[in-house]
Amino acid sequence: MFSRLASRQLAASRAASRTLASPSASWNRGMKVLAILYRGGEAAKQEPRLLGTVENELGLRSWLESQGHEFIVSDDKEGPNSVLSQHIKDAEVVITTPFHPGYLTKDLIDTAKNLKVCVTAGVGSDHVDLNAAVDRKIQVLEVTGSNVTSVAEHVVMTILLLVRNFVPAHEMIERGDWMVSDIARNAFDLEGKVVGTIGAGRIGYRVLERLMPFDTKEHLYYDYAALPQEAEKKVRARRVEDLKEMVSQCDVVTVNAPLHEGTKGLVNADLLKHFKKGAWLVNTARGAICDKDAVAAALKSGQLTGYGGDVWNVQPAPKDHVWRTMKNSLGAGNGMVPHYSGTTLDAQARYAAGTRSILENYFKGQAQNPANIIVGVGKYESKAYGQR
Ligand code: NAI
Repeated sequence: MFSRLASRQLAASRAASRTLASPSASWNRGMKVLAILYRGGEAAKQEPRLLGTVENELGLRSWLESQGHEFIVSDDKEGPNSVLSQHIKDAEVVITTPFHPGYLTKDLIDTAKNLKVCVTAGVGSDHVDLNAAVDRKIQVLEVTGSNVTSVAEHVVMTILLLVRNFVPAHEMIERGDWMVSDIARNAFDLEGKVVGTIGAGRIGYRVLERLMPFDTKEHLYYDYAALPQEAEKKVRARRVEDLKEMVSQCDVVTVNAPLHEGTKGLVNADLLKHFKKGAWLVNTARGAICDKDAVAAALKSGQLTGYGGDVWNVQPAPKDHVWRTMKNSLGAGNGMVPHYSGTTLDAQARYAAGTRSILENYFKGQAQNPANIIVGVGKYESKAYGQR
């Protein structure tokens, strides 16, 4: 897309060619592959393109079994007796998806004596304790880029539905009511607004690209990796090196950075004080980047006019999670949905194919696509999970 990404990929590629042949070329040998996916129910029976479900198994079963591998698939991931806890003990490969993440904590990884590879069917591998994976020389691979357009579209949609006060307008119609002023009193145009992104990688950049036709006033970004000038120019983006300074200038802030030590709780009560009063905040990156209670309080007080996204700090989100029902003082401003922006049917086809390709490489002892390597053998290969 542009040269920062290309040069990152080149650097990763060089590193990968040094380290990436699979630790054991084991493609002839039967191994245990464990997949933790979300349950698809009736929908998955009716719609085979719901590939990322327990029912449709990423389309991998017959292929894996024809190679002599054992394939365990489940959505059961919590507690010591779960399928995840039991089968991880001797699995060589664990596949999981950010939409229903099998949380691979250090404690769980310590029990996984045979584990060599964790594959994320999607993008975002924070559900794995990456430092523990480095220490244990377990590779962490993801299908980079597989759903970034899907998410960028969702971000733009959520920005629009918050700024234009769409959700309460639709609810009013369903209720049978009609009171235009109740909606219009808090509905605005996106045109002329300042939009800032925390993280300007594949998704953050695509969001800015997609905002161009809306004639926004300015695009800002906060990222420790600067975009090349040409890429900045293309999306009218200006880098702001201080996060508080950036958010204080934005009408809309969107979060598009991975979850790691440097982003956990980044949008907290202190940072929210620096937001422009009445700003809108959209987070499709990871729930734990935003402090749950601080966001709800900011919405209630009017510091935020709206908050929207699809990621929650534990998934599935508990029934009483405050983000399900929080509102601004006008009873609106909530654009939350379950985690699905990156699991459209188009995205599922891409991340299922990508998962198979990662497994094929591993079984044959071939190098992986460098862009897919978050943790290689014994070290971080991605530069997106914090400055190390
Ligand atoms: P990417 O690796 O292309 O870009 C991430 C950017 O964030 C990089 O430019 C990196 O330098 C920057 N960054 C890292 N730490 C930062 C910090 N402390 N402050 C500011 N910037 C920082 O990743 P991509 O593909 O854009 O995805 C980003 C995240 O979006 C994923 O890690 C994942 O958590 C989330 N995601 C969510 C999905 C969903 O369905 N809701 C689907 C796909 C990804």
